[in-house]
Amino acid sequence: MIRCGIIGYGFLGKKLAGYLTRYKMRGLAITALANSRGYLYYPKGFDSDNLPADITGHTSFRASNPLEILERGLVDLLVTLTPTNVYNGEPGLTYIREALKSGVDVVTADKGPLVVAFRELTSLADSMGVFLCYEATVGGGIPVFSLARHSLRGDRILSIKGILNGTTNYILSRMHFEGLPLDLALQEAQMMGLAERDPSLDLEGIDSACKIVILANALLGADRRLEDVKVKGITQVTSDAILAAKELGMTIKLVGSIEGGRLSVAPRLVRLNHPLCVHGSLNAIQFKMEILGDLTLIGRGAGESTVSALLSDIEWILAQKEASRGGR
Ligand SMILES: NC(=O)c1ccc[n+]([C@@H]2O[C@H](COP(=O)([O-])OP(=O)(O)OC[C@H]3O[C@@H](n4cnc5c(N)ncnc54)[C@H](OP(=O)(O)O)[C@@H]3O)[C@@H](O)[C@H]2O)c1
Repeated sequence: MIRCGIIGYGFLGKKLAGYLTRYKMRGLAITALANSRGYLYYPKGFDSDNLPADITGHTSFRASNPLEILERGLVDLLVTLTPTNVYNGEPGLTYIREALKSGVDVVTADKGPLVVAFRELTSLADSMGVFLCYEATVGGGIPVFSLARHSLRGDRILSIKGILNGTTNYILSRMHFEGLPLDLALQEAQMMGLAERDPSLDLEGIDSACKIVILANALLGADRRLEDVKVKGITQVTSDAILAAKELGMTIKLVGSIEGGRLSVAPRLVRLNHPLCVHGSLNAIQFKMEILGDLTLIGRGAGESTVSALLSDIEWILAQKEASRGGR
């Protein structure tokens, strides 16, 4: 049995646990679930009948630092799904660092740790001979890293561009199609649960910039930080500017790009028939390849679809482990 712990039992944690108990992947069992207040340990492994909706109220809940899960050696694979601070990487950074140091494989959707300490964490994983997978950090469920690393690995990536933030894309789409001013489109996005109460990281382009940093470091061998990205958000985009773009068969999108070593995020004019011109909360990522040319992936960049990326990472790790044990 491979013992899996999930730190962060909120929206994604609960969805993931639900799918994992249903799919029963290669002998994986969820043995620990944690939130900010402590953790629940169940050595037999939860199944769909006894998976708790709430862990804090559970009789076996241990009010303690979730790091104890690692200190007590209770899991072989850790998934971190905690709110992320993109400036110091916490709380995920500490959980991931300690897991890797303990020889535990890690899957995460937390951007912060990878933005702040990408090289440190990937080197640590390599030196400990464990896996660190983070498909869910960019583009939700869209298989960006696995596609680039597996199917595109013989070719060369020349540049990457993307619509990487669903909230701003929703707002810009409503401004384009309904002529709404930015503040009303934002209010609508907040009412629909597509924008945080404090939407500044999205509106100011920081969330997209984090994803650009992760893409550059993971796929282009760079060693970049948030401060290396030239960032401009959408707060100055007006209805008039969008209308003027529309009259030219274009619209304005918040585009993140990695081109010739330059990392940027800014509102850009995009042709309405361009493959990157997706609407609503969709994300799109375009690779320019030396041989293949342009390849664009489009999909849902957040929500339950993100679980698809988490499951893909987990299944990949389990398959590697099985292969190394000669079980192929
Ligand atoms: N939701 C999405 O669609 C999506 C998509 C891609 C990536 N992500 C990323 O995935 C992560 C999780 O997202 P989510 O939507 O599932 O968040 P969420 O619903 O807010 O859940 C966060 C969970 O983390 C726990 N937590 C908070 N601080 C903690 C700490 N110091 N130690 C341990 N646990 C802690 C919370 O526990 P309490 O209840 O005790 O506070 C809660 O269980 C975030 O980094 C997010 O950016 C989310």
